[in-house]
Amino acid sequence: MTESTLRSIPTTGAITGVLEALAFFRDPTFAKRRFDRFGNVFETSMLGQRMVFIQGSKAIADLLSNPESTEGWWPESVQQLLGSHSLANRNGEAHKARRRVIAQLFSSSALQRYSAGIINLVDELGLELKNAKTPLPLAERMRSFAFSVIATTVLGMEGNDRDSLFYDFEIWTRALFSIPIALPGTSFKKALKARKRLLEKLQGVLAQPVNGKGGLDLLAGGLDEAGIPLTDEDLREQLLLLLFAGYETTASALSCLMRELLLNPAVEAWLREEIDHLDWPPIPEDATTAYDIANAPKLDALVNEVMRLTPPVGGFFRRTKQALVIDDIVVPKNRVVQVALAASNGHGISDLEIFRPQRHLESKCSLNLFPFGGGERVCLGKSLAELEIRLMVVGLLRKLHLVVINDQDLSLRQLPSPFPRDGLLVRVQA
Ligand code: HEM
Repeated sequence: MTESTLRSIPTTGAITGVLEALAFFRDPTFAKRRFDRFGNVFETSMLGQRMVFIQGSKAIADLLSNPESTEGWWPESVQQLLGSHSLANRNGEAHKARRRVIAQLFSSSALQRYSAGIINLVDELGLELKNAKTPLPLAERMRSFAFSVIATTVLGMEGNDRDSLFYDFEIWTRALFSIPIALPGTSFKKALKARKRLLEKLQGVLAQPVNGKGGLDLLAGGLDEAGIPLTDEDLREQLLLLLFAGYETTASALSCLMRELLLNPAVEAWLREEIDHLDWPPIPEDATTAYDIANAPKLDALVNEVMRLTPPVGGFFRRTKQALVIDDIVVPKNRVVQVALAASNGHGISDLEIFRPQRHLESKCSLNLFPFGGGERVCLGKSLAELEIRLMVVGLLRKLHLVVINDQDLSLRQLPSPFPRDGLLVRVQA
């Protein structure tokens, strides 16, 4: 790249960023409309913060392949609710060391250990749907399922402990992307109080891991960057991050996937041709591979298409520590860069507005998706999320034919992750 081909960054001209922030929260086409006008990289202001939006695989690859020029960043509300120890808020060695510790919970042997528990949860939901006398909100059930996988299967919690954790966690999640001013009665203030209770409960889990349950014993050798074991105060914030990172996202992916299947019977029929030949349940030792791309390519394509059209994480962030060239544009130092995944995935060639999983099986398909981020901060729970999704789809479809109830709002609310507005009411076809 010669210097003469580099361009300076196009800007919306916003200064205070108050109107931009309002538009961002209200208008789902916020990023798309500005990309159409300014190109794949543009700068704006959000409540005083200079923010650069990027889309397209070249821009995203340029950002992720220059980790030395960037560091992690989250909005103030997320930073405060996660806490200063959280690996999401750390950089350099402090980040890497904590990743190494937490990654032990997601090794392939750990996933094998969790498989039987996940299969049980899928079977329980199948039974509940089958026996239900009235329609059930499937998206709500996906939330409880994703939460149980982390709280029960990974952290080893049971019964009352898990239920009260769920209650506080819902309060905490609602304020994640709110204005971080803790005035009495605001959702942010309530979330800070819920955070305190959550940390106390997580402290209890660390103090008394239920024998033989969950994976916390796998953390026993966890050392920090100086080779010193992480304190409980540090570890409990990492566990809080896992609830945050793994619950809403996976529940969203599952709900959007089931919604697409229910709204596209031809795709469901196409998928069933494959799923009807798969065994359910898989032997727990084989569960991590039983429905992978080699054994279930259509299912893999379906998951990719859902992640493309409705990415559970619509955007993730970095901050530039020095000037950086992204898609031939010079992004100055000290800018927050937002990777606009949702806009990126529908950008480029035609027909990308349509839900068509088959595209991922075509040899000409050259889509480069980043639903789990990339580089040094790539999602730590990717394999667990993929396992949960595959087990749920095969487990439900092998046992049931679901139909969607008319007269409900099937549109998606977008933040913090896409979800069917009326909870996706379904019944089992007799
Ligand atoms: C479909 C489900 C999921 C999606 C789409 C997803 C997506 C993402 C994305 C986009 C990031 C940011 C990556 C970056 O900054 O480059 C991330 C980070 C992370 N995810 Fe996930 N995630 C999912 C499920 C999970 C699960 C189940 C867990 C664990 C229980 C998890 C744990 C994490 C953690 C700990 C991070 C922070 C990594 C770091 O900062 O180093 N995620 N995820």
